[in-house]
Amino acid sequence: MITEKKDFSLLHYNTFGIDVTTSRFIEYDTIDELKELISGSYLSEPFLHIGGGSNLLFLNNYEGTVLHSCIKTIEVVDETPDAVWLKVGSGVVWDDFVDYCVKHNLYGAENLSIIPGEVGASAVQNVGAYGVEAKDLITEVHTINPEGEERIYSNADCKFAYRYSIFKEPSGKKVIVTHVCFRLSKQESYTLDYGTIRKELEKYPAVTLETVREIIIRIRESKLPDPAVLGNAGSFFMNPVVSESKFEEIQRDYPSMPFYVMGEGRMKIPAAWLIEQSGWKGRSLGPAAVHDKQALVLVNKGGATGRDIIALSDAVRLSVREKFGIDIHPEVKTIN
Ligand code: EPU
Repeated sequence: MITEKKDFSLLHYNTFGIDVTTSRFIEYDTIDELKELISGSYLSEPFLHIGGGSNLLFLNNYEGTVLHSCIKTIEVVDETPDAVWLKVGSGVVWDDFVDYCVKHNLYGAENLSIIPGEVGASAVQNVGAYGVEAKDLITEVHTINPEGEERIYSNADCKFAYRYSIFKEPSGKKVIVTHVCFRLSKQESYTLDYGTIRKELEKYPAVTLETVREIIIRIRESKLPDPAVLGNAGSFFMNPVVSESKFEEIQRDYPSMPFYVMGEGRMKIPAAWLIEQSGWKGRSLGPAAVHDKQALVLVNKGGATGRDIIALSDAVRLSVREKFGIDIHPEVKTIN
């Protein structure tokens, strides 16, 4: 069913908890309904398609149409002795998909437990955590554009990279994801080498999908604030990638700086570390703050506007630039 609401509050549709409205809010359950909206020229005016609102920062009321998919199907489209291919609706809550995989003994998605958001956005953003990215599982992305043309993107067509896909490029921005297809393994296999996962597993009698999911949930919950309690959008910044020479220059002064080797003379430095070293961890600017348990996360302490969050983000970025000569960039999408 298509539902349409006028002057609708987006407070519960962005995890930062920013109190803005949209002129029109439309939800749909099926691809045929989305096509009906397109042929009714709803998408010829300014529109924004949101998912779970876990990566958005609204600066103003949105003068246009906000669309939200409620396509919530999970279908098995193929199966071999080794693997299962699932076609998942864009409106499925990401963690419901992970839970489905774990409950059906399908391996691959468990490290991505309780990432906020919905399946459609997981392909746009290439969500990732604990050594796994959505791109490792995605086989196809089914889309429709505002002209009503359907296109299936293969994994390679999507140009996936760290928190990046073709759907973030100007040409891909208006493309609407309707379904994402994933390949999950039926063979027992895990990715356990990130951070403290292996150490945590020692407390359990056996490694199973359930125990890995449980550990990931525990690690995330210990560091990342629950948006229902403290508005936030997960990592606010991306981890910067720098040249080896820049990295060595900083390492001379900070021998214990954490890093990831990216290859081709590039090094990734955790933005959380840069922010903490710049003195911002746990600090506030008005109603916005840098989270006290994970410096990569900006939080709304209550009543913050999008501009309050940006003021904090700008102050943090300036400090990091002045101290380390590195520009850090928001991962969160700002809507003006
Ligand atoms: N660190 C600090 N201070 C802090 C937090 C972390 O110095 O306040 C240091 C840690 O000591 C560690 C390093 O930074 O050496 C990395 O920290 P962590 O493992 O927590 O990962 P991250 O780089 O901060 C990334 C993702 C997260 C994902 C985790 C786990 C990005 C932007 N963020 O965070 O993704 O959950 O790895 O894989 O890549 C998200 O995108 O919303 C998100 C939460």
